[in-house]
Amino acid sequence: MSSSAKSNTELMERRMKAVPRAIGYAHGVFAAKALNSEIWDVEGRRYIDFCAGIAVLNTGHSHPKVLDAISAQLPLFSHTCFQVVAYESYVALAEKVAELAPGDFAKKAFFMSTGAEAVENAIKLARAYTGRSAIISFNGAFHGRTMYALALTGKVDPYKTGFGPMPGEVYHAPYPSEVHGISVDDAIAGIEKLFKNDVDPNRVAAIFVEPVQGEGGFIPGSTAFFQRLRALCDRHGILMVADEIQTGVARTGKIFAMEHFGVVPDLTTMAKGLGGGMPISAVVGRADVMDFCNPGALGSTYAGHPLACAAALAVLDIVREENLCQRSLIIGEQLRTCFSVLSERFDCIGDVRGLGAMTAIEFFHDGDRSRPAPEIANALKTEAARRGLLLLTCGNYGNVLRIMTPLTIPYPVLQEGLEIIGSVMAELHKKKSA
Ligand SMILES: Cc1ncc(COP(=O)(O)O)c(C=O)c1O
Repeated sequence: MSSSAKSNTELMERRMKAVPRAIGYAHGVFAAKALNSEIWDVEGRRYIDFCAGIAVLNTGHSHPKVLDAISAQLPLFSHTCFQVVAYESYVALAEKVAELAPGDFAKKAFFMSTGAEAVENAIKLARAYTGRSAIISFNGAFHGRTMYALALTGKVDPYKTGFGPMPGEVYHAPYPSEVHGISVDDAIAGIEKLFKNDVDPNRVAAIFVEPVQGEGGFIPGSTAFFQRLRALCDRHGILMVADEIQTGVARTGKIFAMEHFGVVPDLTTMAKGLGGGMPISAVVGRADVMDFCNPGALGSTYAGHPLACAAALAVLDIVREENLCQRSLIIGEQLRTCFSVLSERFDCIGDVRGLGAMTAIEFFHDGDRSRPAPEIANALKTEAARRGLLLLTCGNYGNVLRIMTPLTIPYPVLQEGLEIIGSVMAELHKKKSA
């Protein structure tokens, strides 16, 4: 097959033959180039990007400073393996991430390549440090697709189907979500119930929690919830691990979303936004936990890759220089204002929620919160793409439209994207009532 095929349809046909179905796709579009908050496909069509590679391009596609940092590193060396021959950028990034992470205790950080690897390593550390084996996570959580991260993930289909048995000693508790009828009391009671019926708290190494559930539906936790979770962890000697892989690096208006709640986790996992498009993840937190394992116990051939470290250092500079935390808050305000207006017009919008730019709308049939409407979220996604706006859904029922613009998006482009959502909603509504 010629490599000069330039239509999305032809490339899709080749993809279907060469790539397994299980590597899903949100859009039948093949990228040719991308800049800040726009993507052009192989047919030369422009799209506004409200996906940012799933909350990765917080600093936008091809930010010149990220490109410069990668270009400066590339001719020097592209790989030595940090455990074999070290390099300063890794150490500088560890210093920076440890300095930024919540907590006024001594902290250390190390790097992996993917979010799931960061989660795996946080599990290893928590188990080694506490000498305990059980882990608690939450219904609806997403922590990755490697086997232990998958066990922590709180959604069966499509992630777990056919892959069992899951690694043992993982327990799931309800995540608080008022709109789904789960209060903070219910969530904490759910953990207490686990302690009564399923696992001795003295056997629990860690509780993993997303400050805002991401794949689970963009559901923000609350100060009350995290304070009670922290107290419960302290009471039983359990480590609290914040999974900030999706929420981190200014996505919610703070470098770490947990800063909104004033609760300090023992360990934090990061990835996505950290690398500005380069694959890098991190575990950061208490130095005494980090230093518990023997040399060689942690690491990976490519982990903390020099190009990714260079990019990540540039990303953290950009976040500060371009006030991306502040921008995230402004973007979030604009999104929620627009969606609140839409929710008054369309009763299928049952909830508008978010923290900073991490904002979503949830669809229900006729506004009845017991009847999730993934069809509406999907129809909106499909029609918006046809009109040049790329969107993604999420949620336990796939009925949530989540917005993940680059935080560097120009406001007129943001507005243009929101107008497409408004016009598609009006169109869908017209069809429904016709
Ligand atoms: C909160 C959270 N944890 C872990 C992961 C897994 O990251 P990765 O896909 O890089 O392995 C994700 C990915 O979406 C995530 O949102």
